Amino acid sequence: MSNKEKTLSIIKPDAVERNLSEKIKSIFSKNNLSILDTKKIHISKDEAAEFYKVHQSKPFYDQLCSYLSSGPIEVIILEGDNAVLKNRELMGATDPKVAKEGTIRKLYGISIDKNSVHGSDSVANAKVEINFFFKH
Ligand code: CDP
Ligand code: MG
Repeated sequence: MSNKEKTLSIIKPDAVERNLSEKIKSIFSKNNLSILDTKKIHISKDEAAEFYKVHQSKPFYDQLCSYLSSGPIEVIILEGDNAVLKNRELMGATDPKVAKEGTIRKLYGISIDKNSVHGSDSVANAKVEINFFFKH
């Protein structure tokens, strides 16, 4: 049985800056995740803090919010069968050093903070994150 889901992907500043957006989007498309909507934006540090508020108690929170607001990002709504998990698999582990071969973070990530992409971690969070950036 199919299980159609939506999820949010963000191409982070390090990857936008290196013109990797098209390459990353082609990985989604090749793996049957369709792009329902996408936009390139530059968010403020306050917006980043709101987006990442689940991490507010973490030692890396302030740096994470500064980073996500440091340059343009591309936010993307992906849709497909088991989209949340599939996107997480295509992204690879948070730390590019330990991400599996062929994953986006292994291919393009620079470091644990500059790891090129964000992906929602559950269907419930995907709804919240999509609503944060899009009126869908
Ligand atoms: O992005 P992912 O869901 O894989 O990881 P997370 O645990 O939800 O952390 C969110 C983001 O915080 C990561 O993608 C990293 O960019 C950053 N982070 C960091 O800078 N240092 C860490 N020790 C862990 C995460
Ligand atoms: Mg996460």
